[in-house]
Amino acid sequence: MKRVVLAYSGGLDTSVAVRWMIETWAVEVVCVLVDVGQDPDTTESFEDIRARALAAGAIECVVVDARDEMAEEFCAAAVRSNALYEGKYPLVSSLSRPVIVRHLVDQARRFNAQAVAHGCTGKGNDQVRFEVGTHALAPDLEVLAPARNWGMTRADSVDYAEQWSIPIRASKEKIYSIDENLWGRAVECGEMEDPWAAPPEEPMTLTRVRDTTPLEVTVGFEAGVPVSLDGERLSLADLIKRLNDLLGARGFGRIDMVENRRVGIKSREVYECPAALALIQAHQDLEDLVLERDVRHEKARLETRWAELVYDGMWFSPLKEALDAFFDETQRHVSGEVRLSVHAPGLLRVSGRRSPHALYDYGLATYDAADTFEHADSEGFVKIFGLSIKTWAQRQGAKNSHPRS
Ligand code: ARG
Repeated sequence: MKRVVLAYSGGLDTSVAVRWMIETWAVEVVCVLVDVGQDPDTTESFEDIRARALAAGAIECVVVDARDEMAEEFCAAAVRSNALYEGKYPLVSSLSRPVIVRHLVDQARRFNAQAVAHGCTGKGNDQVRFEVGTHALAPDLEVLAPARNWGMTRADSVDYAEQWSIPIRASKEKIYSIDENLWGRAVECGEMEDPWAAPPEEPMTLTRVRDTTPLEVTVGFEAGVPVSLDGERLSLADLIKRLNDLLGARGFGRIDMVENRRVGIKSREVYECPAALALIQAHQDLEDLVLERDVRHEKARLETRWAELVYDGMWFSPLKEALDAFFDETQRHVSGEVRLSVHAPGLLRVSGRRSPHALYDYGLATYDAADTFEHADSEGFVKIFGLSIKTWAQRQGAKNSHPRS
């Protein structure tokens, strides 16, 4: 009998997928539940979820704790790359899929499975990430996508679960699609499908204002990686959690955007990612202090490409690896501290930065008596810098001197 390893979340779709694959394709199903930092307050215990997978008919449900892996490998890379898809989205779901894929493939080998499966529909990015990622690590494995085949609406799925006594928590009224991990939350559907409608507060858990006291917090970096808060060394997973709490409570970190999915659909998305946005902002600011000008500029161009690749499911790809090697090289001196301040709800600012590797030179920058800059050197520099423009202007005659007449 064919054996399939399913990326299992415990939600309605993946629970129904277990039974549906058994009934439709006569396969054995092993579930893999990967903990990438889903908030235990908003989900149930992993034991409850595991029991549901077994109730749905899985022969086994393996729970993998991948929180540190998610933080130290994936979130750290996102910080180093200042990764914001379309300039806004810190890649929350895009980052967790390759982590899940890695464990799916591991478990597929362990259980001698011929295929892996996911619960994505045909309309989103996650199917791309699961499939391209799996084939990058295991070109021989088949990838199954039951939710692209079954043609059930959400209400049909709820009925199907009832019919097979699968103990789901979802109901026909539960309208939001939420995906979460250490790096933040993605909230879709319901009234948000109208891009003009303001996002509802109800499904937001990280960024609801709970604390209006001002906050100052200092983030320490070593070689591009956040390592401490106010001098206290923390694991990256703990540091992210702590910042999510501190900044989210003050209303920072919500993103409301219309984004371009890989499959050609524009979708309205609301994200909650306080730590992700703050760490990227702080890291970028530290880079401004320590990176040489050309490196800083070239890196910024490549960051956009890196974020697109990861969004598009190309985590395991040669271009992404090559960009990583370049970014790695740039991070050697990105060590120091950045002070973040929140003085009004939702408003975060960098209010200071320092580093032993700063290229900021007080003598060169100052306008006071300590000035060491050779002002006379600029005369020849500016003349030659502007020479081509001057030559061009002379050829134009008076044509450009009164552009509006
Ligand atoms: N649009 C985001 C992305 O593609 C969020 C996807 C959220 N996934 C989900 N199954 N609700 O990264």
